[in-house]
Amino acid sequence: MTGRKVAIVGAGAVGASAAYALALSGTCHEILLYDIFPEVAIGKAIDIAQATNYAPRGTIVRAAIKPEDLSECDVVVITAGVPRKKDMTRADLLNINAGIVKEVTEYIKEYSPNAIILCVSNPLDVMTYVVHQVTGWDRNRIIGMGGALDSSRMSYQIFQKTGFGAAQTRSIVIGDHGENMIPYPEVTGVGGMPLTQILSKEDIADIVDKTKNGGAEIVKYLKTSAFYAPGRAISFMIEAILSDEEKVIPSCAMLDGEYGYTDITVGVPCVIGANGVEKIIELDFDEDTKAKFAKSVESIRENIEILRDGGFFDKL
Ligand code: 2OP
Repeated sequence: MTGRKVAIVGAGAVGASAAYALALSGTCHEILLYDIFPEVAIGKAIDIAQATNYAPRGTIVRAAIKPEDLSECDVVVITAGVPRKKDMTRADLLNINAGIVKEVTEYIKEYSPNAIILCVSNPLDVMTYVVHQVTGWDRNRIIGMGGALDSSRMSYQIFQKTGFGAAQTRSIVIGDHGENMIPYPEVTGVGGMPLTQILSKEDIADIVDKTKNGGAEIVKYLKTSAFYAPGRAISFMIEAILSDEEKVIPSCAMLDGEYGYTDITVGVPCVIGANGVEKIIELDFDEDTKAKFAKSVESIRENIEILRDGGFFDKL
């Protein structure tokens, strides 16, 4: 991969934080920011471009004004979408965001036909499914970012208990990026030490609980959702793709028989490299995890069915 050109669609707090984290990492040659409000994309692109003056390596940061400016990107991140408002039903939100993600995906398909797409729009697992349906691309080229963020939240909670090994903690959270997410302490470790041997059952139960509420905790204080940790998680995944790192990162992927499921996008441990999802790692779930995973898959399917019942997929 030579170009190392990344576009971020949606220059809100998450998209801009991703661009900022990525620009400071010096991984790309060029970052494009695109938004339905071009002034926002232009203003943030200038600000981030100026920040790169003190980055380890140069990165060009600019705004993309027209959809055709999103051309020949190696990776395109989709963060576009609206948050749920008071008077909206779940179906309203799903239909609105699916419409936005569909439109953006059609641009990507036309102007960056060889890209890897990283979907971040919510509800994450359903929107990742939408991107698969709209593109019809090989499944490895579409990845949802949920597990990387939820795992960073789990690591944070672990450090709150242990007080050591912060940068050495490797957490795994699978399942949906929502109510039924599955923080997975049995495969999580601090400096290679299994979490289950370091902390008590009670402490681990508390970590699991707090991880699941990680997004909501921030909303409680800020009245808006998180952006720094999501931004960093996005840039971490892009670095793994562009540098072909073959990193194990829990990610939302399309299953085709893995874990006994097909035609569903859900968070599973993946190997991420130049081709996107290079491999899905199939763990041997115990009965409890199997049941949790089934419930998580079911919750995603219910939302996909809402879109299907509304005729969304017939119009593709
Ligand atoms: C979060 O988990 C809203 O997906 C976003 O913070």
